[in-house]
Amino acid sequence: MPDNLTIENRPYLGFGLGLRPDHYQEVLDRKPNIDWFEILSENYMVEGGKPLHYLDKLREQYPMVMHGVSLSIGSTDPLNRDYLKKLKELAERVQPHWVSDHLCWTGVDQTNLHDLMPLPYTEEAIDHVADRVRQVQDYLGQRILLENVSSYVTYSESAISEWEFLSAIAERADCLILLDINNIVVSAGNHDFDPIDYLEGVPSERVYQYHLAGHTFNGEIAIDTHDQPVPENVWSLYAQAVKRFGQVSTMIERDDNIPPLQELLEELEHARAIGQPIMDAETAAA
Ligand SMILES: [Fe+2]
Repeated sequence: MPDNLTIENRPYLGFGLGLRPDHYQEVLDRKPNIDWFEILSENYMVEGGKPLHYLDKLREQYPMVMHGVSLSIGSTDPLNRDYLKKLKELAERVQPHWVSDHLCWTGVDQTNLHDLMPLPYTEEAIDHVADRVRQVQDYLGQRILLENVSSYVTYSESAISEWEFLSAIAERADCLILLDINNIVVSAGNHDFDPIDYLEGVPSERVYQYHLAGHTFNGEIAIDTHDQPVPENVWSLYAQAVKRFGQVSTMIERDDNIPPLQELLEELEHARAIGQPIMDAETAAA
């Protein structure tokens, strides 16, 4: 598999934002201090139009990574070859630093549930997902990143923890990891585990990127709505993650209730203020 993404030489992009259509023009006009953007792949898997117009202009000025929601790597349906073809074409256009999707399934029997469903943490599922990740990586010609999703249910079949499951797939498929810090906080609260155990259980060298986001608590469970500023418990777990994993590309992921760009820039500065000194100290000590 030809690939410049190795576990020995992890690229570091700095502090980025998820690119949202509300901010296209303002980013072009203001050229704000954002190190890189993550784009939602599916928004640009189209023929022409405004999104591609802005994408090409912004790509000239900012490094980018691609993030998808439709790979459905855990499904028992065959891999969607048409989707993969479009994903590869977009990657050829964007030349992203990497491509990511979620460790989940989004449907079965050709029915899309439009949700990121967790998997049972079993040996059978590890084999199944790892085999499919390898197929995707061979087709794209590069390693992909898999993101941990938040969950509200567990399967009685699960024999290991979520982090052991994620780590086993990453090792067996030889893929990389996108750690969503908010999703760890949400799942830790819903399933009553220690989020530090999660961080300590993940292979450090495979963690390539963080998502920082907000969630909503409905009185019973936490839901990863991504429509709120990053809360204090996510910031504090982020600081712990940076201590453990060192220099890892960090971004704010806001999917709903999109605020003015200035608000996200201030949140990004907060991430920088927390993460950069720890990363610098770790690098100096290494
Ligand atoms: Fe995320």
